[in-house]
Amino acid sequence: MFMKLVIAPDQDTACAHVADMLYTCCAQNPAAVLGLATGRTMERVYGHLVRRIHDRPVNLAGCTTFNLDEYCGPVARTAQSYRAYMQHHLFRHLDILPTQTHLPPGDTDDVTAACARYETAIRAAGGIDLQLLGIGHTGHIGFNEPLSSFASRTRRVRLAPATRAQNAEMFGDCPDDVPQHALTVGVGTILETRRAVLLATGPGKAAIIARVTEGAISPMTSASALHFHPDCTFVLDEDAAMDLSDECRWMAEFILPRH
Ligand code: F6R
Repeated sequence: MFMKLVIAPDQDTACAHVADMLYTCCAQNPAAVLGLATGRTMERVYGHLVRRIHDRPVNLAGCTTFNLDEYCGPVARTAQSYRAYMQHHLFRHLDILPTQTHLPPGDTDDVTAACARYETAIRAAGGIDLQLLGIGHTGHIGFNEPLSSFASRTRRVRLAPATRAQNAEMFGDCPDDVPQHALTVGVGTILETRRAVLLATGPGKAAIIARVTEGAISPMTSASALHFHPDCTFVLDEDAAMDLSDECRWMAEFILPRH
């Protein structure tokens, strides 16, 4: 058992490959429970997934989704929220009931109770079958910033300055306007998922991917906890894979472009 590496020649092929994994999970299991992520990287994945489902429909009536994270405060009810992102890029295109799609309730008054309820809801749904992950420049998965315990559960976190800078685009390119806090599922929650796929594309992710894949396993780099996951695949494009050693690339599966 070891972490699987899939290297695609370009961003679009990597995203289409991950969309296929999500599609297959839903097609094979009408009661699939998906863990979903937001961010720039996932936009193209959801585009491919929507086209697949329109071309070859699958019944999503029994499917449930849980997102990784949501900003805290009134922003969780606005167009800058992750709920709005999911609605725009995925949910409005699918035949899935809003009650089957879950995000941590960033606008809650009782954070502790709401986070505990989120964990309970995931367990009540039977646990997550396939967890989709991006990676931030701090090495976060979800919003598990450096020093997140590998046993952490859904909770309120303070976002690192690098993350607020990374996400400033949705806030008029002003990092100070990005919310300071978010709710995120924990590293421990992610490690309990049955299967995880982390997608990274572009040269900006090359250094953190090399650190997570070949460097020390440390809470300073939350994604390094995925070495403890029983079934984890990293899907990378060549740009994100460019800092990997030859030994590491030797272990990878290479896939062909889709044209
Ligand atoms: C978002 C999330 C984050 C992002 C990561 C990468 O729900 O969980 O971990 O996946 O910050 O974001 P992008 O794709 O914008 O580089």
